[in-house]
Amino acid sequence: MVDQELAKAFEGIGEEYDRYRPGFPDAAADVILPEGVDAVLDLGAGTGKFTALLLDRAERVTAVEPSATMLEVLRVKLPTVEALAGGAESIPLPDGAVDAVTVAQAFHWFDRDAACAEIRRVLVPGGVLGLLWNHSDPTCAWDRACHRVAHPAVTEDADSTTASAADELPGFAFDHRTETSWSEQISRADYIRRWLTVSSFLAADEDTRTDMVARLDSILDTDPATVGRDTFTLPMITDVFVYRAVGSGG
Ligand SMILES: C[S@@+](CC[C@H](N)C(=O)[O-])C[C@H]1O[C@@H](n2cnc3c(N)ncnc32)[C@H](O)[C@@H]1O
Repeated sequence: MVDQELAKAFEGIGEEYDRYRPGFPDAAADVILPEGVDAVLDLGAGTGKFTALLLDRAERVTAVEPSATMLEVLRVKLPTVEALAGGAESIPLPDGAVDAVTVAQAFHWFDRDAACAEIRRVLVPGGVLGLLWNHSDPTCAWDRACHRVAHPAVTEDADSTTASAADELPGFAFDHRTETSWSEQISRADYIRRWLTVSSFLAADEDTRTDMVARLDSILDTDPATVGRDTFTLPMITDVFVYRAVGSGG
């Protein structure tokens, strides 16, 4: 069940999200669109962090996103992308409009069945659906500990984000799943600022948020890999799920 209060947490941010959130490796886009397509839709596109990787892989790229502030940043960054206000449960495109739909870091916010029906409707028969998420690397103890501050209920076995990508999605056949490991250099200050763009930090009241940041600082001040350092190497895993539309659709 989607927490609507948390889902709304992104309404007010755009520039900070774009500046501090990680991007995605090219390999993740290659997994979904190995040969390129005519038209692709990036759904829940945010500020266009994944949308940007689609420009070399499709003739026409459309982005749909409910947050006006996120869309504003996307329109400035990616002026050739058709950027539309809208949600996954009511996509502002005609039937069979695109060959592929991508959803980066957002499918867990959707009303799953309604979104699947809409995605199926706007896809051509046999079209591709690619769902992807960036994850912390389980071997990185300090990043895992920081994740537990933001998402106390998440365990290694029960991640509510990728759990929303089940083998069975109505109207779709599961094709394959790929994990890509990569890493980035990030300053301690930007690492903390990144957490401030995460839904649970955005939705927290000021006292709770201050306490959460203090807990992050305490982890970074004690872990041997981060104590006394201004910059860290942050390992990351991008998890990609690829599906094909089945049946006659909309
Ligand atoms: C974590 S952000 C990911 C943004 C972007 N795809 C990225 O990877 O940087 C989640 C995005 O999903 C959007 N979102 C939330 N609920 C949605 C819905 N029902 N339909 C479409 N997008 C939604 C939010 O506004 C937000 O931009």
